[in-house]
Order: sequence, then structure tokens, then C-alpha cells
Amino acid sequence: MEEMDYENRIVAPEYTYRDEEIDVSLRPKTLDEYIGQDKVKDNLSIYIRAAAMRHEALDHVLLYGPPGLGKTTLSGIIANELGVNFRVTSGPAIEKAGDLAAILSSLSEGDVLFIDEIHRMPRAVEEILYPAMEDFSLDIILGKGPSAQSIRLNLPHFTLIGATTRSGQLTAPLRDRFGVLLRLELYTPEQLAQIVTRSAGILGIEIDKSGALEVASRSRGTPRIANRLLKRVRDIAQIEFDGIITEEVAMKALERFEIDELGLDDFDRTMLKTIINNYNGGPVGLETLAAAIGEESITIEDVYEPYLMQIGFLVRTSRGRCVTDAAYNHLGIKKTGQQTIF
Ligand code: ADE
Repeated sequence: MEEMDYENRIVAPEYTYRDEEIDVSLRPKTLDEYIGQDKVKDNLSIYIRAAAMRHEALDHVLLYGPPGLGKTTLSGIIANELGVNFRVTSGPAIEKAGDLAAILSSLSEGDVLFIDEIHRMPRAVEEILYPAMEDFSLDIILGKGPSAQSIRLNLPHFTLIGATTRSGQLTAPLRDRFGVLLRLELYTPEQLAQIVTRSAGILGIEIDKSGALEVASRSRGTPRIANRLLKRVRDIAQIEFDGIITEEVAMKALERFEIDELGLDDFDRTMLKTIINNYNGGPVGLETLAAAIGEESITIEDVYEPYLMQIGFLVRTSRGRCVTDAAYNHLGIKKTGQQTIF
């Protein structure tokens, strides 16, 4: 199978350095500005107001869900709504227990500490976090060997917000220390159209209603992808059309990027076709599928599958993954008993 250029995948939901410039200006600052995730917003709004009323730090929050849905954005909003500092780091960036100890001891009362990809924290670091979350204390070992001494430092009451793609990736002791668990869901095309329209307004891009819905429908439920596509479509609108993004302009531009009307790109189509061709539509086990398409199984689970399942193209069964009739229809492939014909 040909090597996939994952780095340059335009509908990759992971954050890339190219998104940085977009993100800073487009990130909503308040819960009111944040579109979608209504259940999460309603709950958070109550917890934030209750904590503020009691003059206490908000309980630790675990946000989980597919990448690109706004976990960092939402955490920044929580800090902003609480009127406290927002500190950002990530699991892989904290290499040693001392790194985390340094961050924790620099926090002020009530601060929000956001740890992205919290499931990727080294075990030794994670163990520092337990007493910090539970008792707001930091256990430090001084010296080595038999003369080593442990001292306990008090930390300010802070709020840890952890983000991960699936709550099941966390160890039980870590997961149990979060008081609030919130799952972010993929956005509907209508919600994404609102986000696209808002972003276009901020970036000074002209887009009409059907143009916004067209971009939104091809963004696989993910605001990060919607904002990225908006910028790419704007380039085409400017060079090849009159600068305004209409439905037609959006369709032409996205066709050029080989993103179909449901937002599927070559990666998705390859995966579905592999299941159809090699495994007669499934069921096929995750590990087998991962080996067949040369992708890590965790990437398949976190990046490809959520959207394919949402649109009803893929189902997870106890015996493995199966492609549905809807996917066969979309790909224009006939289902013929034991054989598939293209
Ligand atoms: N940008 C990214 N996610 C957003 C959201 N949920 N609402 C508004 N703008 C966003």
C-alpha cells in the first residue's frame, strides 16, 4: 500500500503548527461565545457559578473526546469565567517528576492548570499528581539512600483540567481523582456552520449561508478542521472566483482537495475499501486492520473511527469492525455475497 502523507492531511483533526495563527484569534473567550456542546456548557456553567459563590477552586475536570473539538479552548474559557490564571502544558512535555513539581509550586490560589494528553504522562510524574489533586500537597524527597527525607509542601487550591481522547486511556487512580467528567461530542453540520460563519467574520472572509454549510458538512464534525478548510477555501475563492465563498465555490475548492461531500478524504476511503476488499466488509479486528493499512491502532480508534461511526459507515461489533451498506453506497461499490466488485 502506498505510504500515506499523514502530516499533510488537510482533514487531520490533530493540532499542527499551521493552526496556531488561526487559533489565537478565533478562540471564543466566554461560554456564551462557545457554540455547541450544550450539555457540557450547561453543567460547567453551574459548577463555575457554584465554585465562585463558595470562593473555592473548581473541582478537577476531565475532558475527553476526539481531537479538535475544543478541549483547550473550553479550558481557557473556564479559567476566564473563573477570573483565574490559565496555565497550559501536556503529558508528553512533563518528562520528570521535578518538572511537574516546578509547575505546581508556581501556581496561585484558584488557578487552572491544563494538561493536554494527560494519559501520556510518565508514571513517576502521575504519582506526584495524586496528592496534589487530592490534598493539594507536594511530596518531595530530599537526598538519596537511607538518609533521604520526605517533606510535604502545601500547594494553593488549584483546578486541574485534564484532556484525553478517551477516558479509558487513563489509569483508574488518576481518573478517580477528577470530580467532573465531561465528554465532548462531534458537532453537527449546523453547529459547524455557525462556527465557520463566526470565524469568517473575525478573519474578514465573505461567505454566504450555503457556503458555510458546505464547508461545515465536509469538516467531519470538528471545528479545527472547519476553520482550516475555511482558510483553504478562501484562498481558492480569492484566486479563482470573486473572493466570496458560496456553495458552488466551496464545492469546487473542496473537490480539488479531494474531500468528498461527507468530508471523507483518501485516508477514510482507503480504510473502508481495505475492509471491503480484504475482509469482505468485515468483521475485522482492530489490530489486523491497523497492520493492513499501516496505521497505529490508536490513531484508527481516535481519529478515523469516531466520524465514520457517527455517519453510520462503520460499526464496532464484538467480532470486529464492519462496513455498513451506507458506506458501500457512498463508495459506489456493489455488495455481492462473498465477492465485491468495483
Ligand atoms: N472555535 C472552535 N471551537 C469553537 C466553538 N465550539 N465555538 C466557537 N468557536 C469555536
